[in-house]
Amino acid sequence: MPTATTTTTYLLRHPTPTELTHIRTQHSTCWAGALSVSQYLTREDHIASTHLTRNGGMTQWVLVDAADADTGGHILASCEAIQKKAFVSHPPVDGEKRVPVEEVVAYGIGSVFTPPECRGKGYAKVMLAMLGERLKRRGGQRVGFSVLYSDIGKQFYAKLGWLPHKSSHIELPVRTPTPARLHPSRVQPLYHDDIAPLCALDTAALRTALSTRHPKTRVAFVPDYSTMHWHHSREEFIGACVRPDLGAPAIKGCITTCGTRWMMWGRDFSVAGPRLYVLRIVDFGPEEGRREDLAAMLSAAVEEAGRWGLGRVVVWSPAESVVGAARAVVDGVVGVERECESIPSLMMYGKGGSGEAEVEWVLNEKYAWC
Ligand SMILES: CC(C)(COP(=O)(O)OP(=O)(O)OC[C@H]1O[C@@H](n2cnc3c(N)ncnc32)[C@H](O)[C@@H]1OP(=O)(O)O)[C@@H](O)C(=O)NCCC(=O)NCCS
Repeated sequence: MPTATTTTTYLLRHPTPTELTHIRTQHSTCWAGALSVSQYLTREDHIASTHLTRNGGMTQWVLVDAADADTGGHILASCEAIQKKAFVSHPPVDGEKRVPVEEVVAYGIGSVFTPPECRGKGYAKVMLAMLGERLKRRGGQRVGFSVLYSDIGKQFYAKLGWLPHKSSHIELPVRTPTPARLHPSRVQPLYHDDIAPLCALDTAALRTALSTRHPKTRVAFVPDYSTMHWHHSREEFIGACVRPDLGAPAIKGCITTCGTRWMMWGRDFSVAGPRLYVLRIVDFGPEEGRREDLAAMLSAAVEEAGRWGLGRVVVWSPAESVVGAARAVVDGVVGVERECESIPSLMMYGKGGSGEAEVEWVLNEKYAWC
């Protein structure tokens, strides 16, 4: 197998269905977790058919040597890209009180994979460099940026132009028996049908927040129903495979009784560390009662995690108020700065840089992960 060179011409194209099955079978060794290969293949088809990903919302890409293209070509590397809605706003020009908020397309790139026999020859780098360029020009809408969640540290993707952003979270341990719920009367559960209207409120508020003056460019993925549904479809599929005894994971989060604060979550059944991920925390309520409301929501999350045998509750990029409330809920809350896994890495398209010095990634929470 030759090493990637500047003299070889590579082709970045979509895989055939047979190639896609082959690639997914290969990378099942990395990402199938508790699923069998056949369950993993079915899951990939299942989550490719959600509102977010169907009808071209998700595209798969393979790198082949152009000289072999007529014969299909040996697949040198592969990945996929999910198209999402995002907002971008820029620092004010002159004395503007409000800045325009542009709705753009943004891509989440995932499942970056090089077959073991092809590794270390530069193929992933070539593929990602070509993909970065290709995504800028896709479709009729303006493409604002693309992101990756690196599981291989901060350097590899940074060298290619996807710069690392804040990657901190807190973990609340879930012990058996789970502690008594704090302020249970302050919250009620959220179900599937509650999600869309809440996402619409959240999105409208985000747009308004981004229209205020700020010294940096700001970007945010729209926390819409399609995005939450993608996460929920995933957990429902995996849940049915690994914990069929517990039925469908129907509770999708919780909301305070006055409806000004809510939390959406998803279950991760990974063998390495099953956990309940908070996808998004919305806090529109007044200062009064904040601590109790947040504690009540986190306490409900811990209880739900316990019911599903998940060992911790994880909250990405938590506000100080959330950290404080978490400590009131359980002992042993830890703050984690991720150095290797799930590093949000951003490449802006257009003028300006992509690093934290130039761009603020607003709502860098788990819902944006793919
Ligand atoms: C990561 C992966 C895609 C790299 O593919 P590749 O074609 O071998 O990569 P390239 O040859 O283009 O680049 C090699 C670089 O990747 C780095 N790299 C490879 N695996 C790495 C790892 N696990 N952690 C950190 N860096 C890694 C190498 O150190 C090398 O860096 P250098 O150029 O600074 O020396 C491949 O190893 C793979 O498929 N791994 C399993 C799946 C995976 O982890 N995917 C990434 C998910 S974010």
